[in-house]
Amino acid sequence: MKEPEFIIEARNVSRQYPGTLALDGVSFALRPGTVTALIGENGAGKSTLVRILAGIERPTSGSLVLDGETMTLNSVRDADVRGIGIIHQELNLCPNLSVAENIFLAREITVRGVVDKRRQLQQARELLARLEHPIDPSALAGDLPLGQQQIVEIAKALSRNVRVLMMDEPTSALSASEIAILFRIIGDLKSRGVAIVYISHRLEELLEIADSVSVLRDGRMVAEAAACEVDTNWIVEKMTGRPAGQAQAPEARDTGNQILRLDSLSLNAAGGRPLLRGVSFDVRAGEVVGIYGLMGAGRTELLECIMGLHPEAAGSVYLESRPLDGMDTPGRIAAGLAMVPEDRQASGIIQSMTVRANMTLSSLGRYVRTAWLSLAAEDRAASAMSTELRIKCPGLRYSIASLSGGNQQKVVMAKCLLTNPRVLLLDEPTRGVDVGAKREIHAIVRRLAASGMGVILASSELDEIRATAGRIVVMSRGAVTAILPAAEATAEALVVAASPSAGERRDAA
Ligand SMILES: Nc1ncnc2c1ncn2[C@@H]1O[C@H](COP(=O)(O)OP(=O)(O)OP(=O)(O)O)[C@@H](O)[C@H]1O
Ligand SMILES: [Mg+2]
Repeated sequence: MKEPEFIIEARNVSRQYPGTLALDGVSFALRPGTVTALIGENGAGKSTLVRILAGIERPTSGSLVLDGETMTLNSVRDADVRGIGIIHQELNLCPNLSVAENIFLAREITVRGVVDKRRQLQQARELLARLEHPIDPSALAGDLPLGQQQIVEIAKALSRNVRVLMMDEPTSALSASEIAILFRIIGDLKSRGVAIVYISHRLEELLEIADSVSVLRDGRMVAEAAACEVDTNWIVEKMTGRPAGQAQAPEARDTGNQILRLDSLSLNAAGGRPLLRGVSFDVRAGEVVGIYGLMGAGRTELLECIMGLHPEAAGSVYLESRPLDGMDTPGRIAAGLAMVPEDRQASGIIQSMTVRANMTLSSLGRYVRTAWLSLAAEDRAASAMSTELRIKCPGLRYSIASLSGGNQQKVVMAKCLLTNPRVLLLDEPTRGVDVGAKREIHAIVRRLAASGMGVILASSELDEIRATAGRIVVMSRGAVTAILPAAEATAEALVVAASPSAGERRDAA
């Protein structure tokens, strides 16, 4: 008998949600030993499609075919026994379980019915070593930074013997060197015949790894091609249905007075390991300061310290010359600071609330008229923001959980902007946001700065920093290794300054 050409296929699959037809007659087929990039704007239906192929959701109509035979997947477990794995867009590790327990969750290694913790730890350690990340397998997952949690999700998928692996934005919290490691692993899986679906909004990265590309637009499959035959302009055109525009670089501008000053901020981890070491720089009104650094460089910790989330930190923060020492986070928000956090699931949104309520959560005081919350005012503010950021949702009264990942990120951004801060702190503000919306967010950031706000933007994406920042602070191992004006910040200069050895050299000096 002839081998079927495809391992797995979706045939004419549709998925109706309340208010949204997420997939509309989509057919999608995967060959063994290939990487298929699945591309589309936020809300196009990418996650829905891979969730159906992984047994998490059922199609409203259409069928799934495995090895040439029609099948139904009733659960994730069903998909698991057939060798179908998925790395979720929203990380869903159990924070109170160890790394090893997470990796083997629901598939524990047992001896006579008892979990063999030692072997789980050992195997977890081997998997993490394969990913070139010696994360302690007995550490609690909830204590790991976001990038490391993403590595654990990947290890979890690798611990299964998969034939089909769906990766839904596996690199959104990773920087260049970690992505290179992941790509080596993907190459290895490919050579063993695994069919891989790779979803990402980082288009250059996609073209590097993919054999073929499939583009979804508004729930329909609008284009499929070999990766070697297309470029990023083609992709953007297919995604949006419009010709690709040019990305804009920030114009050099005169900046105003110093608005924020950091003086020797230092912070140690619980075990005494330094996370921040004497970080000092300033931000002027009208300026976007970019923070660039690899995973573990201290970007997130720095922003958290500025917001007062680590009262134990040493050093001082001055807002318009006024010291914020000893002030808690709500006090700092009232004083004029706002932050878009890196991890929207843990600290950005409240899943059970509506889109509107999430947006106006931090600025509720402004919608209170004579002790009653003015829903009309709240509505107006939320509508204006959702138009400006082009948030795709059936209505502001829907639960935020029903929005696609990128659109949830935009709601978090909207929430911060509605507080009208003096200084805006952005930690990976476009994580999971599509190219079009990314450019809009970059333009908004530049516009906010031009109106006199001070902005600090931390990102692992060089392009993002270079599209927004006038000055770039490079960090390595918790220390500032360079401060470069945008004009001098070539990709090479940034990468050199961000390398771990740059952090070490600074230690020696
Ligand atoms: N549980 C749900 N309830 C209602 N609507 C939903 C639900 N899940 C997804 N949707 C809607 O289906 C559409 C497709 O969502 P999906 O998550 O597949 O998009 P995506 O292409 O993965 O986008 P992103 O790039 O932002 O992750 C969106 O309009 C979304 O609002
Ligand atoms: Mg998605």
